Amino acid sequence: MKPKAVVTGASKGLGEVIATFLARTGYDVIVTARDEAALAVTAKRIGATAVAGDVTDPEHRKRLAEEALEADVLVNNASELGTIEPLVEQDPDELRRMFDVNVLAPIALTRELRPKLVVNVTSDAAVGGYEGWGGYGSSKAALELVTRTLAAEGVPAVTVDPGDMRTDMHQAAFPGEDISDRPTPDVTTPFWAWLFQQDGASVSGRRFQAQGERWEEAS
Ligand SMILES: NC(=O)c1ccc[n+]([C@@H]2O[C@H](COP(=O)([O-])OP(=O)(O)OC[C@H]3O[C@@H](n4cnc5c(N)ncnc54)[C@H](OP(=O)(O)O)[C@@H]3O)[C@@H](O)[C@H]2O)c1
Repeated sequence: MKPKAVVTGASKGLGEVIATFLARTGYDVIVTARDEAALAVTAKRIGATAVAGDVTDPEHRKRLAEEALEADVLVNNASELGTIEPLVEQDPDELRRMFDVNVLAPIALTRELRPKLVVNVTSDAAVGGYEGWGGYGSSKAALELVTRTLAAEGVPAVTVDPGDMRTDMHQAAFPGEDISDRPTPDVTTPFWAWLFQQDGASVSGRRFQAQGERWEEAS
């Protein structure tokens, strides 16, 4: 039987690259994103099963879990950027939405799927304290703590900072700026090729940088 993987936010950008890699290397892949038409195009191209919906919706997560029974890998990649602005000006509802998508949905999906490896996609904003990035950054910092806690509790889990990539989310963070000097997300493929060959227990609790000179950060 083929190993099974679920990738959230897989209609485009980094999620599409990860899902493509997993499908190409023999995984039975289940992809999700909100835009049903865009997701269907990606799913058809890579031979994955599409389950469209919002990761914050419990009914959607239930449908995903039914489709992905006994999943080996869960990649929590879908993310909400919010508005880049000073933290004190950030709308509380928008902050709540970031935490719903970036922290609570990954925890809930982990609980429902109980995969052999959870990959939580983080960002350098989780550690940077960058001006304007406090909402998104603090949600990713929380996701990193969640990951280390899961690992301590025996659920194999890692965080991966993919580095800057030329995607719609990156363009939204830098509106009107030319981002053509950033690499496309497939620059991270060698890292995924390495990670998915590792035994979950041997990498659990670690934070990786997919574009770093060394993948694993010194702790
Ligand atoms: N790009 C960068 O430079 C960069 C740097 C550091 C970290 N990251 C992280 O890398 C990951 C991927 O980012 P990206 O740049 O590839 O983003 P992207 O191109 O904007 O793609 C985001 C994907 O997530 C889906 N999505 C968003 N919200 C969702 C929700 N609530 N439920 C289900 N699907 C949802 C989107 O589809 P729909 O809109 O149709 O739902 C899309 O498929 C994110 O975790 C991001 O924080 C990116």
